[in-house]
Amino acid sequence: MPAALVISGGASFEGKTTIYVVISAIMAAFGGLMFGYDNGIAGGVTSMDDFLKKFFPKVYERKQKAHENNYCKYDNEFLQLFTSSLYLAALVFSFVASHVCTKYGRRLTMRLASFFFLGGALLDAFAVNLPMLIIGRIFLGAGVGFANQAVPLFLSEIAPAKIRGSLNILFQLCVTIGILVANLVNYFVAEVHPNGWRIALGLAGVPAIMLCVGSLIITETPTSLVEREMFEEGRATLMKIRDSANVDAEFDQIVHASEISRQVKNPFGKLLKRSSRPPLVIAICLQVFQQFTGINAIMFYAPVLFQTMGFKSSASLLSAVITGLVNVFSTLVSVYAVDRAGRRILLLQAAVQMFLSQGIIGILLMKDLKPTGTLGRTEAIIIVLLVCLFVMSFAWSWGPLGWLIPSETFPLQTRTAGFACAVSSNMLCTFIIAQSFLSMLCTMQAGIFFFFAAWILIMGFFALFLLPETKGVPVDDMVNRVWKQHWYWKRFMSEDDPDEDMKNSRLEMAASPSRSHS
Ligand code: BGC
Repeated sequence: MPAALVISGGASFEGKTTIYVVISAIMAAFGGLMFGYDNGIAGGVTSMDDFLKKFFPKVYERKQKAHENNYCKYDNEFLQLFTSSLYLAALVFSFVASHVCTKYGRRLTMRLASFFFLGGALLDAFAVNLPMLIIGRIFLGAGVGFANQAVPLFLSEIAPAKIRGSLNILFQLCVTIGILVANLVNYFVAEVHPNGWRIALGLAGVPAIMLCVGSLIITETPTSLVEREMFEEGRATLMKIRDSANVDAEFDQIVHASEISRQVKNPFGKLLKRSSRPPLVIAICLQVFQQFTGINAIMFYAPVLFQTMGFKSSASLLSAVITGLVNVFSTLVSVYAVDRAGRRILLLQAAVQMFLSQGIIGILLMKDLKPTGTLGRTEAIIIVLLVCLFVMSFAWSWGPLGWLIPSETFPLQTRTAGFACAVSSNMLCTFIIAQSFLSMLCTMQAGIFFFFAAWILIMGFFALFLLPETKGVPVDDMVNRVWKQHWYWKRFMSEDDPDEDMKNSRLEMAASPSRSHS
């Protein structure tokens, strides 16, 4: 193989930042914004009285009763289903999407995602009953499943290698911006009676229309064309997006990578082999831990949570806007620090900060928030500050790195399958938290924060002992430089020919997975 073809993760082919690269960044923005908007919108809507009166009158009545238990105001499984149904749908549809993506390309998958999103936004904005509302959420979930599969894949395939890592975190940054926009929308429409919630849910259609228009403008990726044996179109597209006639090396590599991918008949079977255990365990654990930090208890239910603590409706929504802002700005810290300070230090520092903030929130609430009555003003401000400290540390660590690490640690043959396992574990755990948080809050009361703190403690130890540093390690050298050197994981590297894995992974990520990193 010519030297030029051996791409060491960080090396890149000739590639300018052309208009197509700019468009790919914009697509990343729309995909991330849509996902974030849907994550952020439900919490505010479920705290609006007009919405509760229409779909959840029992919750509304309970909220009005003077002596009702603070912690149980919102405990209703259908109310939770409103939030969680999206993630269950996303879990199921991400498998369908992975098939559509391979067989029909990234462009069509993105267009379908935008149709699902638009359908879901319309159904929810005009919902007349609970089933219509939930079906709308399922449509949105299908959109999330399709978009989260296709957009990051599109990004990693179209971007020149040297900016692939930044685009990876850009996607997460846009998720946080989407959450913030949703928080702001909730804040402004809460006083629009009685249909403010319809506006909030319907506005999800705006980024969907943009994604649809975008998917009509963009070109299919060369990798997808080659994967579907349209070699001439693949080469022509590569020349167009790189704005260069000198694309032979990159094209050969795409063809080669695609051949190797095709040879692995059963990537999921290969994932079960012993040598795949280290990246697989780490990918799944990172997703489980990411969700069990309790982040989405805050992202989904912040307004409800703040009302539980006795905040007025608008103060609750405003507090959610503040946590949303902290989320966006702290993600920027990660963009800067991830390749300088490294992954482990960010994860460990954040585990300590998150453990302390969740623990102290639990202690304060246990002491000051009884089932009836409200928090004092000072305590309430301290709690909002602690929530900000928690969100801040999540946003520069377990948030983006939960996605980045699984995308850079699998060898090529198992990369897409491994990443699909990571995505589905994330959706499953997100569903569990969304479906059970309000009930857990009702039964465990302030103890729920100790529950999350306990998980954070476990994940801190996991990161300390079992998570190797991958900063600056080319993706193709993970086996040799990371797994074979690690005190624990090296014992998994002796079986089923890891050298073969390494040989194959020496090809860059032409057939690379979602959110891949260079
Ligand atoms: C998580 C989402 C979460 C978001 C918050 C992402 O990394 O996967 O579940 O809502 O971060 O910013």
